[in-house]
Amino acid sequence: MLSSKNILLGVTGGIAAYKITFLIRALKKSGANVKVIMTPDAKAFITPLTISTLSENPVYSEFSNSLTGEWFNHVELGLWADIFIIAPATANTIAKMANGISDNFLLATYLSAKCPIFIAPAMDLDMFAHPTTTKNIKQLIKNNNKIIDAKYGELASGLVGKGRMEEPEKIFSIIKNYFEKDLTLLGKKVLITAGPTIEQIDPVRFISNHSSGKMGYHLAEKAAELGAEVILVSGPTNISLINQKITKIAIKSAEEMYDAVFKYFNASHIVIMAAAVADYTPVKQEKSKIKKKSDSIDIQLTSTKDILATLGKKKTKKQLLVGFALETDNEIENAKKKLLNKNLDFIVLNSLKDKGAGFEGDTNKVTFIDKNNKVEKFKLKSKSEVATDIFNKVLSLL
Ligand code: CTP
Repeated sequence: MLSSKNILLGVTGGIAAYKITFLIRALKKSGANVKVIMTPDAKAFITPLTISTLSENPVYSEFSNSLTGEWFNHVELGLWADIFIIAPATANTIAKMANGISDNFLLATYLSAKCPIFIAPAMDLDMFAHPTTTKNIKQLIKNNNKIIDAKYGELASGLVGKGRMEEPEKIFSIIKNYFEKDLTLLGKKVLITAGPTIEQIDPVRFISNHSSGKMGYHLAEKAAELGAEVILVSGPTNISLINQKITKIAIKSAEEMYDAVFKYFNASHIVIMAAAVADYTPVKQEKSKIKKKSDSIDIQLTSTKDILATLGKKKTKKQLLVGFALETDNEIENAKKKLLNKNLDFIVLNSLKDKGAGFEGDTNKVTFIDKNNKVEKFKLKSKSEVATDIFNKVLSLL
């Protein structure tokens, strides 16, 4: 659920500190990586040993370890975190965060962190109701922090009022919702093809193309980021995948790509054919190396199966099919023909006439044409940004 998310917890010196153990357990159970920073005062309420045992990481508290001389990098820790939760946050820590004071490791990390920050105040009712605290909390909200509001109830002082830290289960569900809100493709199966195909002439020679596979790999990473289960059928490339939710099926020829695609097609909700599939393959693959004999040789080629066109014929109303068109002339007209002939929901056109577009680079300049003939032109972007645009379009059509 929170698998491989990096969650940084900041614990300050309030009685609610002991409840953080329940939050750490829930986070670890759901697969998150958890690191904890404690202020010196927090250690009076719960031991670092308990926290480090539960989080399976050392606890950070000081800028350096006086015994080993080791320096802890608050900037690195801030960058490591996908999310930073300060709970419980005392009136003192809230005041310091609101005013940029950095006199302990937690505060220095807070000032360095670039990720979303959630703060769960916990204090006695009068401290919570004090106008300075109200002003400081307002300042933290203004600075883009999210406040997990304190609750009304019995307080450690014996008084009853607003100031209790939100329950760990509720904080856990706020974190979970935060990560899941972007998982717009959760439960969807996405099939993507990428890279070139290789059509063997003899054991040493082949016909292929300049496709790097970058566009398809960015699409696969994006789909996985959005929560989809991804099958990536890929021709030979030298790109490594980051997200472990992507299953890669390595193929070489157009025929192998056809077989792999149809193995997964029926179960897929979204199919994106970003591969540069060879249109022709040698009629005969020589078993031995062709020897040099005459000044010229003829290699007879036969057309491969058009995978996308076949998918277009078989697709159901519940499946969304996206193709690519790489053109050099009459781009829009040719792309529209492909969209229609291959029965696509939309087509991503790139023209080799555009600088920075096409096969090998890290950028692409694309135009989308959908089955309602809507044409959307985009400026030159990184392939990762193009992948985001493609999935925005997919989501608008789902
Ligand atoms: N495609 C496919 N199977 C093939 C050839 C292409 O699935 N045998 C897919 C590509 O992955 C792409 C789309 O069809 O999504 C268009 O590919 P492209 O090479 O631009 O067009 P072709 O249909 O091959 O036509 P042409 O080469 O004449 O432009």
